[in-house]
Order: sequence, then C-alpha cells, then structure tokens
Amino acid sequence: MRAPQRVAGTGLPGLVTIWEVGARDGLQNEATTVPVEVKLEFLDRLAGAGLRVLEATSFVHPRWVPQLADADELLTRLGRRPGVRYPVLVPNERGLDRALSTGVEHIAIFAAATETFARRNLNRSLDEQFTMFEPVVTRARAEGLAVRGYVSMCFGDPWEGNVPLDQVVSVGRRLLDMGCQQLSLGDTIGVGTPGHVRSLLSSFTTAGVNVDTLAVHFHDTYGQALSNTLAALESGVTTVDSSAGGLGGCPYARSATGNLATEDLVWMLDGLGIEHGVDLEALVATSTWMAGQLGRPSPSRVVRALSGTESG
Ligand code: HMG
Ligand code: MG
Repeated sequence: MRAPQRVAGTGLPGLVTIWEVGARDGLQNEATTVPVEVKLEFLDRLAGAGLRVLEATSFVHPRWVPQLADADELLTRLGRRPGVRYPVLVPNERGLDRALSTGVEHIAIFAAATETFARRNLNRSLDEQFTMFEPVVTRARAEGLAVRGYVSMCFGDPWEGNVPLDQVVSVGRRLLDMGCQQLSLGDTIGVGTPGHVRSLLSSFTTAGVNVDTLAVHFHDTYGQALSNTLAALESGVTTVDSSAGGLGGCPYARSATGNLATEDLVWMLDGLGIEHGVDLEALVATSTWMAGQLGRPSPSRVVRALSGTESG
C-alpha cells in the first residue's frame, strides 16, 4: 500500500500550502552541526520533491544557535529554484542586515506569547521583543520583503503552564499591526489538542483577524500534531508548517521535539483529496537520505512505513 484510498472530507480546503521548516527548525536542534553542503543538497532535494516554501535558516546570533552559524554562506551559495520561496528567520536589525546582504526576499520574525519564553529565546521581555521587531518589520516591508510573524508557546509554556487565549491573540495582533502579513501559531512543545486549536483560531477570527492570515506550526511531542492540523483545516487554515522526516525542536525549549512530519501530513492530505504539490516518494527518499546523514532513523511514521524500515 503506497497511497491512502482517497475519500474527500467536507468543509476542507481544496489546496494546502506546506511551509517546510526542516532545514531551519529541524537542523537548529541537531546535536552536531550539519555541513553546509548537506544543507544545500537537502534544500535542493526538498524543492525537487515539489515543496514550494522552504524555510532555509536563521540569521540569529551564531552563539545562540551554532547549528545555523553558516546562514550567510548557505544563502550566498543557495541555488534558488524558480517558483520556490526561501524564507529565513530574523530576530533583529543585525539579522536583517545579514539577510539583506544575501538577497533574501522573505523573512520571519519570531515572537513569544509568554514572558518567560521571550526572555529565554530572545533575551528580551515580552514588551521589549516588540521594540526589537518593529524596525525589522518596517525596514523589511520598505525593502519589499514579505514578512511572517511566528508566535511561540500558543498552547502551553513549560515554565508558565497554561497560556490564556487572549494573551496569544494580543501578541499576534501586535505583530499584524506592525506589518506582518501572516501569523504562524506555534505549539512549540506540542501540548495542544484539537478543541484548543479550534478555540484559539476562533479567538483570532472574533478579534477580526482573517483566517487566511493564519498558519499553524505543530510540534509532535504528544502525538497530537496531525489531529491538530485537521482541526485547523476544518477551521479554514490553508498554510501548514511541517518538517521533512519530522526533524525539529527548539534549543531554548528542551521539551520541544520534532515538528509534524511533512510525509505524515502529505499522506493525510492525499487521503482527503487535498492538493499540495508534493511527490511523496521523492520526499521519503530525501528524508531517508537525511536520516543517513544524521545517523538515526526518521521519527516520521510514513517515512518508516514507505522506506521499508517497518514490515507489514
Ligand atoms: P542578545 O545577546 O540580547 O543580543 O541576543 P544583543 O542585541 O545584546 O547583541 C549582542 C551582540 O550580539 C552584539 O555584538 C550584536 O551585534 C550581536 P557586539 O556589539 O557585542 O559585538 N548580534 C548578532 N550577531 C549576529 N546575528 C545577529 C545578532 N544579533 C545580535 N542576529 C538575540 C538577542 C535575539 C540575537 C538572541 O537571543 C538570539 O539569537 N536568539 C535566537 C534564538 C533562536 O534562534 N531560537 C530558535 C528559533 S525560535 C523557534 O524555534 C520557535 C518556532 O519554530 C515556532 C515554534 O515552534 O513555536 C519559530
Ligand atoms: Mg518550531
């Protein structure tokens, strides 16, 4: 069985944009630094498998995330394919200067929904993070760049526990008011469940945010990422973040594990008859190759099933 039987769902989008974060969210969390040549091949293979948005790296402080210290070299050497976008994470003006000098067209800033994570991930208070982002967004938009805003810890925070819905909406609103064109709602530690997803999305739409502006970013720590994604699709979301092979995590939130695996997402979308443009076989081959580079098997169920590492 190499593909699911197609049985269309109701009230679901016809097309989903997959925002592939494996090269950034995946590789930022590896114990060892992956050579730049491997990263370049990974990105090229992902593009070859049909992915059209590849989050490539982060222009953060190299001491904070040594795994991505080669961002400048990576972007300079990147063979960009036509029709593929290569967004990068940028926290501050220094990061923006670096990103602009390598010709990026799309950036993402990344905010925290909680005070503790703002301090741990950005060395800023919740309020100070906006002061850091404001000139980045203003300058990036003036330069004609597209700007995404992440909100982390939307569904729970390892230090603060539950995170009120209105606190998340208020952070998201400030990013949109600043000029971000899209918000990605992050379940950084993978604790959310489908009812929570529906409630958060409806809190945003009640606050006047169009669902077209919202993307979801689920980590799979508690095995909820795919069911949470379905809840989001049913609520009208059409952009879903995932990482090839389920790579991922956040070095500043130890309880975070890999993202929703792109292969698992593609299998579900195929079953539901939702278009996505990805060649699953080529993607599985890429993740299997990457797992070889990293020296351990992919945590993705679909990669394991289709690459023949599981029988049955
Ligand atoms: P800081 O130490 O407060 O920086 O770090 P600073 O502004 O005080 O500057 C100190 C020095 O660093 C200065 O140099 C700056 O020039 C330099 P000096 O003048 O002393 O020689 N510097 C930089 N150098 C290179 N690139 C830069 C840069 N910025 C400052 N961009 C900072 C503040 C934001 C930089 C730091 O906290 C940082 O890099 N944090 C990044 C953490 C990170 O990458 N986390 C993972 C990504 S978020 C995530 O994974 C969640 C997500 O997936 C969604 C989800 O799952 O929820 C997106
Ligand atoms: Mg993440």
